[in-house]
Amino acid sequence: MIIEVTSEQQMKDLATTIGNSLIGGEVFELVGDVGAGKTTFVKGLAKGLAIEDDIQSPSFTISRLYDARDNLQLVHYDFYRLSEPGIMANEVAEMVHDEKTITVIEWAAIVEGMLPENRFTIEIESPTETTRSVTLPNNLKVTL
Ligand SMILES: Nc1ncnc2c1ncn2[C@@H]1O[C@H](COP(=O)(O)OP(=O)(O)OP(=O)(O)O)[C@@H](O)[C@H]1O
Ligand SMILES: [Mg+2]
Repeated sequence: MIIEVTSEQQMKDLATTIGNSLIGGEVFELVGDVGAGKTTFVKGLAKGLAIEDDIQSPSFTISRLYDARDNLQLVHYDFYRLSEPGIMANEVAEMVHDEKTITVIEWAAIVEGMLPENRFTIEIESPTETTRSVTLPNNLKVTL
């Protein structure tokens, strides 16, 4: 399913709807160019997980962890700056199989092999400065 959003707020709202439905154990791979809106999407997802902290891009820290509703946690990775996952590989392998964790990854290429088959791959394209075309995978069951 392809959803067109025309503002940052609409992108967040879409992600919040998805975030509301999460139960733990989900893995999201966010695909899109620099500035596509991947981190913006995570901000909305976090709202749906009742996370109150500000979501900051993990582009320098590689990973950030947030406590979420219902004893869940959100882990947000950004591997843009890494050419090899190194010791992060073990952490990612563990996180993606933890049923209390929701894992979201930007620039996942170097950990692709560790990601479960049933992950949700979301693609974001930006035809103009403010419009985004968000492709949701068929395995993501969400009522919009
Ligand atoms: N419809 C929209 N949806 C999402 N972001 C939008 C939209 N319109 C404009 N923007 C702007 O696009 C930028 C998206 O930045 P964001 O950090 O989310 O991108 P990113 O995909 O995470 O990039 P990077 O790969 O560098 O981490 C923000 O400045 C945001 O305000
Ligand atoms: Mg980002």
